[in-house]
Parts: sequence; structure tokens; C-alpha cells
Amino acid sequence: MVELPVLVQPTAQTAEAPSNGLTVFVESYGCQMNTNDSEIVMGVMHANGYRTAGSPDDADVILLNTCAIRDNAEKKIHERLMHLKHFKKTNRDLVVGVLGCMAERLRADLLETTLVDLVVGPDEYRRVPELVGEALGGSRSVAVKLSRTETYDDVVPLRTGGASAWTSIMRGCDKFCTFCVVPFTRGRERSRPLQSIVDETKGLWDSGFKEITLLGQNVNSYRDIESGYDFSDLLAATARAVPSMRIRYSTSHPQDMSDKLINTMAEHSNICKHVHLPVQSGSNRILELMNRTYTVEHYIGRIERIKELMPDCATTTDIITGFCTETEEDHQRTIDLMKHIRYEGAYMFTYSPRENTKAWKLGDDVPDEVKSRRLAEIIEIQSEIARQINTKEVGVVHEVLVDGPSKRDASHWKGRTDTNKIVVFSGENVASCAVGDVVRVKVERTNKATLVGIPY
Ligand code: 5AD
Ligand code: SF4
Repeated sequence: MVELPVLVQPTAQTAEAPSNGLTVFVESYGCQMNTNDSEIVMGVMHANGYRTAGSPDDADVILLNTCAIRDNAEKKIHERLMHLKHFKKTNRDLVVGVLGCMAERLRADLLETTLVDLVVGPDEYRRVPELVGEALGGSRSVAVKLSRTETYDDVVPLRTGGASAWTSIMRGCDKFCTFCVVPFTRGRERSRPLQSIVDETKGLWDSGFKEITLLGQNVNSYRDIESGYDFSDLLAATARAVPSMRIRYSTSHPQDMSDKLINTMAEHSNICKHVHLPVQSGSNRILELMNRTYTVEHYIGRIERIKELMPDCATTTDIITGFCTETEEDHQRTIDLMKHIRYEGAYMFTYSPRENTKAWKLGDDVPDEVKSRRLAEIIEIQSEIARQINTKEVGVVHEVLVDGPSKRDASHWKGRTDTNKIVVFSGENVASCAVGDVVRVKVERTNKATLVGIPY
């Protein structure tokens, strides 16, 4: 077994205030934006004297950064809150906060039990230290105002190391897909200035990060209001400013996947060749009911353009099955589309009706067992497609950005290809590599979603 060297972690660059002796533990649920929001919250907390607790057991403050996108995401939080009741029994001074999308959606309802001390929506994170202070003094509060301008541009997120960093470049969403709660929980679209994102990217490189993912609910809507620069301009500017930094982004909307953006990706070798383009359904009738504002034909055209300019670009998607009125024929169209496009990966969900959305009023007429059966069908089809695509990877050499030891076997390293595939590798030279290195790896075999290889 090869002995791995101690991991070299980039230092987080955060303005620290002297410790106030209190520790915080943040648990993040849901999307990558939430992960980055938790880092923002911890940045704000550290700047106010709080420190990070090693685990929830020894924290003075536990914050749950929640997701409201589907009912089961909310159920998970309710279960977690029930569990935290025991923590409160043994530590009466413990402060429990609910942050994020569920806080925004349920607001004061969350204060109904004596368990929750503060409820803070996605645009009020600057107030968390103040509200935690009040909770420590015995008051309970709700702060859920949405903002048209808040981007936390000046807050340094508290990153915990590794080779990859996330940064939110815009917040909110104006698309109003009829099934989606995000425009209600995260508010209107607003973007950070281009120069500050470029500067942040440079700073991250200087402190040891090798990859940055530019995040937004719909990054294609990014616009620097001062200069008018759009998302393609931002991508090009970051790619040029730090030519060795790997640059990724998520998520984009098919309606706004412009030729300019595709050209920009193709022009810069450090912009990763992976596009996550949620399609949601392969039926035009359903897409219209969802207010997705594109047709299947438009969508296929965008994928064709991507593949034309970047033949090796990986594509992944999101699919919702069992949306209101979805028939077997609509379902079949989704299957046909999946077989036509042959995605590297897909996140697949059954439709979960969300209160206040337009689709809520349309009803939820596809029975649960039909939704589950359709979901099982598309999962099986996608697994087979991914398996076939991965089989073709055997013998291919990839540049892998190392992000840590393999979870299954600590004598192996794990990393990602430019196309965002996970690669596990071992070999004689492995002892001399570290987190953040880029290693050429030849794929020898594949298992499910992972490629397995040796340094080449
Ligand atoms: N039900 C099921 N899936 C949903 N998504 C968003 N809202 C819902 C919902 N109400 C999925 C979409 C989106 C992804 C982030 O979550 O596929 O792209
Ligand atoms: Fe939700 Fe649609 Fe906005 Fe995505 S683009 S966050 S699915 S409303």
C-alpha cells in the first residue's frame, strides 16, 4: 500500500476578528449555491469572532442552510430538526437557526416549536451574527426580506480548502418556470461586478486553488450593470486573467445558451468542456406548460452546436418526470431525447408540487406510482447510456485535477477530468502527488460512474 503524503491545503483568506469563544456548525443542504452561501455565512461569522465547530456535538450554534426545491428536501430538514431536539435537551443554551430557501418559504411557521431560534432568508446573511447574538440573549427572530441588490460581493467566503472553489456570480432567478420555487425563495436576478469576480479568481489562484466554479441559478443572465458585459465576457475575462485556473460554471438555461457563449468556451482551453443544460422534459407540450420558453428542437440545436465546436464536451442535464398532465407519450418523448443526446449524466426527479408556483394551480394528476415507475425507467436508461459512454473511455488519457484521496481506498487518489468525470488512480508515482496537482491518467477500467486508471 502506498503511503500518501500529508495533504497540502490552500489557506482560506478571511478577515478574522478575535475569537468570542463561541463556535458555529453549518450544515448545508441542496445545491452548490447553498454550499457557497454557507461559506459566505461562515465568512460573516468569523469576521464577527465566531469560530468553526468540529462537529454539531460541540457547537454553540447550529445553522441549517436549507433547500425548498422539492418536498423531500424539506422533509429531510424537518427530520434533522427533530433530531436536534435532543441536542437542545443536553445543552439548553444551544442556538439553532434555519437559513436559506426553506426559511424564506416557511418564515415564522418555523418558529412554532421552541427549537428554532432564528430564521434567515438568503438575502439577510449579513444579519446572522446580530440575530445569533439576540438568540443567545433569549430572543427569537425572523429575517427574510429579499433584496434587489444584495450579492455579498464584499464578503470573503470561508473556504475549507481543497483544489476547487465555488463563487456565486449572480443571485436569484427571473425565469419563473412554473414548477419552481426558486424565484420566490431567492428573489430577483442580480449580478456582481465583473472586475470583482476576476479579482477574486486571481486571489483564489494565489492562495492555491486550481479550479473555480462560477455559480448562479441561471448564469446566462449574468450582466455587469456598469459595463453591460455578459456572461461570455465574464468567462473570457476570468479565463484570460488566470490562464492555468480551470473554470467551470453552473447552471445555464437552454434559451440563453448563445453562440457567443459556446464560442467562448471553445476558444479557451482552461474553460472546462462540460455543459450542464437542464432540459426537464422531451415533450414540447410539457415544456410549454413548464414555461421553459424553448422547444425540444431548439434544445437539440444548442447541443449540436456545442458538439460541433467541442466534440469531446460532456453534457449533463436535469429531468423532471410526472409533471402535471404528463402522458405516456410525453414520457416516451423524454426517453427518445435522452437516447438521442446521450448525456454523460443526469439528475432525475419526480415532480414535486410547490405551493405558490403556477404549476401548483394546475394540480398534480400523475399518480405517485406512475411517477416512480417513469423515474425508474429513465434512471435505468441513463445508467446504461453512461455505462456505454464510460466504456469508450478505456485507453483514453485525461488530465486529472487531484482533489483528495479516494474515499474507498486511501492508497488511491481521486480527481476530476476537464469533462467533470471522477477518476480514481494509483501507481508508482502516486506518493509524489498532492491535492491540486494535475496528473495525466490513462483509464484502465470503469465502474459505474467512476473511471479507474494509472498515471501515464
Ligand atoms: N419538482 C421536481 N424537481 C424540481 N426541480 C425544480 N423544481 C422542482 C420540482 N418542483 C428540479 C429541476 C431543476 C433542478 C435544480 O431541480 O430539474 O433543474
Ligand atoms: Fe427554477 Fe427555472 Fe429559475 Fe432554474 S431557471 S431556478 S428551474 S425558475
